[in-house]
Amino acid sequence: MTTNLKGKTALVTGASSGLGVDFARELAQLGANLILVARREDMLRTVASDITKQFGVTVDVITQDLSEKDAPQRLYDQIKAGGKQVDVLVNNAGFGLFGEFVDLDWQRERNMLELDIITLVHLTKLFVGDMVGRNFGHVLHVASIGAYQPSPLYASYSAAKSFVLNFGEALNYELKATKVRSTVISPGITATEFLKVAGQQATLYQRMTMMQSPDVARIGIKAMLKGRSSIVPGLLNTVTIWSNRLMPRRMSAAVGYRLMKTA
Ligand SMILES: NC(=O)c1ccc[n+]([C@@H]2O[C@H](COP(=O)([O-])OP(=O)(O)OC[C@H]3O[C@@H](n4cnc5c(N)ncnc54)[C@H](OP(=O)(O)O)[C@@H]3O)[C@@H](O)[C@H]2O)c1
Repeated sequence: MTTNLKGKTALVTGASSGLGVDFARELAQLGANLILVARREDMLRTVASDITKQFGVTVDVITQDLSEKDAPQRLYDQIKAGGKQVDVLVNNAGFGLFGEFVDLDWQRERNMLELDIITLVHLTKLFVGDMVGRNFGHVLHVASIGAYQPSPLYASYSAAKSFVLNFGEALNYELKATKVRSTVISPGITATEFLKVAGQQATLYQRMTMMQSPDVARIGIKAMLKGRSSIVPGLLNTVTIWSNRLMPRRMSAAVGYRLMKTA
């Protein structure tokens, strides 16, 4: 297991708030220099300066809307032009949209699918090739426990996360002859800006199971450095995915609906 990232560079997408900030902090604590990407430059700069002060690592900030077409290629080219190589990629940027599928605005949903799926795969395609060439690297993809079940009211979001889960685990298997690993973390509800962006008030189930972002990030980075294929943080989240696996799928959608609907 890799435990020291001194001299390595980690790229964290969606590092202006929530889990991305905590992934960045965990990686900096292990000595990694960072490249942080998101749209809100002021927040990225605050995160960068706090991390540099606390951990003494180099932090570069790149402001980019990763849901734009060709954004991953532009990001890759910019990093290469700056003479950096990425040893750790954290595919964290993403958001969900809460509501009945028929009511969701298509442009927002399309942006979500672009960011949560296409950008994630494209970034992986670009950076994993180089990692395999050097025979070292880690990719951490952020899915969701929603990936393990049909999730009414988050229908396309949770299906996107199912894609991430299956993609990340399959890639890890393909990479098994190399020293590059692909790990998927599937968090349950975590205290970040997620619910506000998704447009949902926390339900009873969510209030009862909510985890803190630094705890989730710590578990994710640890699993990633161990080269694990997949991790679900927290006992209650693990119980949720296992009880779903044992349930008939029809029932699973009905239970998911109730858990998301009941305030
Ligand atoms: N919190 C949860 O309950 C939960 C549960 C399961 C999975 N997740 C997943 O965890 C990941 C992180 O979310 P979070 O919970 O930390 O939520 P968050 O606090 O809203 O953070 C999302 C991050 O993604 C960035 N982002 C959003 N749209 C972007 C775009 N178009 N281009 C570039 N960056 C963009 C945001 O930065 P800007 O707005 O500055 O661009 C922000 O830094 C997401 O993939 C989410 O689906 C969250």
